[in-house]
Amino acid sequence: MIFIATCKMGLESVVARELSLLGIENIKKEDARVIFEGDFYTMAQACLWLRCAERLLLQVATFHAESFEELFENVRRLPLSQYFKRDTFIHVTGKSAKSTLFSVSDCQRIVKKAIVDNLKEAYNTQTLPETGERIIIEVGILHDEVTLALDACGAGLSRRGYRIRNYDAPIAESLGAGVLILSHFKPDMPLCDPMCGSGTMPIEAAMMAQNMAVGLQRSFAAETWHFIPHDCFELMRTQARDVRKNEKLLIFGSDIDERAISLSKQHAKNAGVMLNWQVMPIQKLDMSEYQKGILVCNPPYGERMLEKKDAEKLYRDMRKVFDKLPQGWSKNVITSHPDFERIYGKRADKRRNLSNGGKKCTLYTYMFER
Ligand SMILES: C[S@@+](CC[C@H](N)C(=O)[O-])C[C@H]1O[C@@H](n2cnc3c(N)ncnc32)[C@H](O)[C@@H]1O
Repeated sequence: MIFIATCKMGLESVVARELSLLGIENIKKEDARVIFEGDFYTMAQACLWLRCAERLLLQVATFHAESFEELFENVRRLPLSQYFKRDTFIHVTGKSAKSTLFSVSDCQRIVKKAIVDNLKEAYNTQTLPETGERIIIEVGILHDEVTLALDACGAGLSRRGYRIRNYDAPIAESLGAGVLILSHFKPDMPLCDPMCGSGTMPIEAAMMAQNMAVGLQRSFAAETWHFIPHDCFELMRTQARDVRKNEKLLIFGSDIDERAISLSKQHAKNAGVMLNWQVMPIQKLDMSEYQKGILVCNPPYGERMLEKKDAEKLYRDMRKVFDKLPQGWSKNVITSHPDFERIYGKRADKRRNLSNGGKKCTLYTYMFER
């Protein structure tokens, strides 16, 4: 079977590496998605463990279509009764880019009609009650190539379940995990996020350090599919629980706002990790106790939260504070401010283009000084 892990632009290599660490082979990277092969156990494992992907889909078919007739006929001919029962509630979602068939709602309607015709014939019936399990099928069209795929996750993979309330402008859990991996976070090194907001990056770091599967606390759409082995999610959950480690964590989260820290504490408790939290302005940051470490931060962009000039003053303050950190600290800042390096006053050693909630942003890395 072929699976598709969708991800934010810029995180394809990170997701591919996550899959390969799970022992998965035949991995192919494309823009904003990674394709791989496996069975339903692989799918359950990917649902539970992928930290940086957005969704997981099971590919049903791919074909070329430039007209609604082609789209309809191709779907009508597929062996769909292996996925859908006579009473399955089928919800079609869609997207289209750079294709002749650009009206997504029309494509969704045509695909639904073709599935209904297909199943009526397969089950030799005139009625499909749609009172049973709900399955989401996505029709995606890119350059006139259609991909039909079942949504295996339901809520996006970012939704680990620990974040119950959002503080202002939270980073998606998947992107937070991606920032940590791109910053070369290692469990045995101190990690500090001095503007932690709702605590996402410190909590994601703790889950990585403890080798915790990020999906353990939630359910997935595929768990209700009648055509998968009954034990696959339970088996993968048991295996994931068995490999959890209990490492001592040197992970620090702080924020100027008391409400952010109390929310972070609640989220960490929900996630089952114990971290060091502190209400503190970044201007007071002092990590001199640790000669090396990784600093990650997601400061206000000067759009949604602080006014631009306040954000810019903060970036200048960050430079002063970061320059006082021991030389073995790398600094990793994710922001969408187009002029960050100029205001911060130093060119980054590495820049990675990413997107956060549809907004283009950059991860600036200032490496360890040797
Ligand atoms: C974009 S939010 C961080 C969101 C966070 N990554 C999350 O997932 O929730 C920026 C954070 O910077 C904090 N902040 C603003 N000025 C600060 C300062 N001078 N010192 C420390 N934190 C500050 C805000 O309170 C806010 O929580």
